[in-house]
Amino acid sequence: MPPASPRSEPSAADSPVRRLYMDNAATSFPKPRAVLDAMTRFATTLGASPGRGAYAESREAADLMWACRERINTLINGENPAHVVFTLNTSDALNLAIRGLLDGREKCHVVTTHMDHNSVLRPFNALMDRGAIEQTRVPVDPCSGVVDPEDIRRAIRPDTRLVAAVHASNVTGSLQPIGAIGRVCRACAVPLLVDAAQTIGHLPIDVQSMGIDLLAFPGHKGLLGPLGTGGLYIRPGLERRLRPVRWGGTGSVSESDRQPETMPDRYEPGSHNAIGLIGLSEGVGWLLERGVDRLWAHEREMIEVFLRGLRQSDGTMLPGLRLLGPPTVHERVGVFSVTVDGLAPDELSRRLEDDFGVLTRSGLHCAPLAHGTFGTTPDDVGKQQAGATRFSLGPFIQTEQVRYATDALAHVCHEVAAGTPASAG
Ligand SMILES: Cc1ncc(COP(=O)(O)O)c(C=O)c1O
Repeated sequence: MPPASPRSEPSAADSPVRRLYMDNAATSFPKPRAVLDAMTRFATTLGASPGRGAYAESREAADLMWACRERINTLINGENPAHVVFTLNTSDALNLAIRGLLDGREKCHVVTTHMDHNSVLRPFNALMDRGAIEQTRVPVDPCSGVVDPEDIRRAIRPDTRLVAAVHASNVTGSLQPIGAIGRVCRACAVPLLVDAAQTIGHLPIDVQSMGIDLLAFPGHKGLLGPLGTGGLYIRPGLERRLRPVRWGGTGSVSESDRQPETMPDRYEPGSHNAIGLIGLSEGVGWLLERGVDRLWAHEREMIEVFLRGLRQSDGTMLPGLRLLGPPTVHERVGVFSVTVDGLAPDELSRRLEDDFGVLTRSGLHCAPLAHGTFGTTPDDVGKQQAGATRFSLGPFIQTEQVRYATDALAHVCHEVAAGTPASAG
């Protein structure tokens, strides 16, 4: 299923030299044409700060930003667009959720998982180092990287104030059973914070039926907006317990020198990244028009093609290749980390780029505990061999491009196994 008209939309491989961008887990590229057009129009003709003037341009910019909240609220089946709070990125949203709920209160306990990103682990550790929290990090299945919701239940204590779980790992693509974790959290009356950095826009998310209280998300990955955008959805009612972590002008209630209590102004001091958010709105509109269900079906097809490409004709893995995480399309998104025996992950990325123009991300992916689960940290294998090489899919990637990437990987694997240097030939 081509998700977009090939004539009007960019392609993942648009470039005079063959370049295939396979790092959509870092940020999505390319963006839909409508995103670029809306940002160009803002930059060249609209220009005004939303909600900061009564003139038509400022009012239109405010309307466009509100449309962005509405579209995101629709996409995640939220209860109220005013509860979609804009942030700089996912990390900023996670900091608001974590510090807003926990900072400065009596010492309490939190639960997270070994698949979580440093954007969750570091804010928790900063609070732990100050003696503000204790934490339990729940291990995952060492093959699939999936957490058992019953382990979350067992980790919850009477003083647990927050459970934070990544929806899909940015290392292995492992999809966590968020609906089941949500049921556990509801039963224990503990708020659930979900890091949707690798899932929003890729697959359907329903915050109400999944029991998600706080959804932290990037605007610049699966929602196809520009860098510098993101958000936090706050379940209505929870804002009463979630303190702001920044204060300032909102363009509203200017007679008061106190932060407004109203949503979303309570959490959005300062001028907005209007150009970015107006672009983001078009990215979300693009997804809603096509349907995330359909795009997810396409991504799953591409996952199957990728996984098939890692195997030889007899069904065995390419020589020396190891895939971290789920070996089948179930329990995963289109994020794949691999290692090749005898080749450092950085070197594999370099060969893929230099010889084939395939752009991947090597290293530890800001997820030290996830790499610990798979034995790929510097302590496990030494600094040089540590980490993995990650390929990640976006909505414009088609079968031919996935095959090109896995053929390139196969070429390198065979060369390394034969002890000869890889070259595109
Ligand atoms: C799982 C996960 N969480 C959080 C983040 C941080 O996202 P951002 O760069 O939008 O802050 C990332 C970034 O790659 C991620 O993959």
